[in-house]
Amino acid sequence: MKAPDFLQKFERNVRAVLQQAKTEEEIVVGIRPLLKSLLVHEEWLPENYQQPLSDQYASYLVYKPDDEAFAVIAFVWGPGQSSPVHDHLVWGVVGVWKGTIEEARFRPKQKETDGATIVLEQVETVTAHAGDVSHVYPPSRDIHRVSNPFDSTAITLHVYGADIGSLERNVYDLATGKIRKVITGHQNQRAIYS
Ligand SMILES: [Fe+2]
Repeated sequence: MKAPDFLQKFERNVRAVLQQAKTEEEIVVGIRPLLKSLLVHEEWLPENYQQPLSDQYASYLVYKPDDEAFAVIAFVWGPGQSSPVHDHLVWGVVGVWKGTIEEARFRPKQKETDGATIVLEQVETVTAHAGDVSHVYPPSRDIHRVSNPFDSTAITLHVYGADIGSLERNVYDLATGKIRKVITGHQNQRAIYS
């Protein structure tokens, strides 16, 4: 499907930020207001991409330009569904399009890790409603868990510095401290918009 006008304009603005920003923190600071102003658009996702899966949260690749300078991904969170505790290894801006989610943020308790285990401590938990925007970037603000403990479906729109569905990342087991490598993929093979 052809990208709607507001998405094309968004791409131009994102590229302007990427050209000027010198750090990942500057990138997310620049992109946060761009995503926030876009969350009001009702036509972000066709209806069939807004339905939750029965067994896990859904990940849909919304848009990825040919040079993969960034990627837009939508997640659909059914009531009670949650991500594992995970990192991204790339900058990301997270916006709530519909419903309400909970984001728990973590950081390593110690600097050194053997690569197989790590002890994390919870920094904070934030409840985010439609229109709210959050962000991640490595290494200082990269580990979190997103969940929907509420009664209705939530949909979040994320912008990352890469297609994180094809990037090898880490999932953390809080109880054992074990780190597991994952490539999460998406429910759809081709992006919704091109
Ligand atoms: Fe995440």
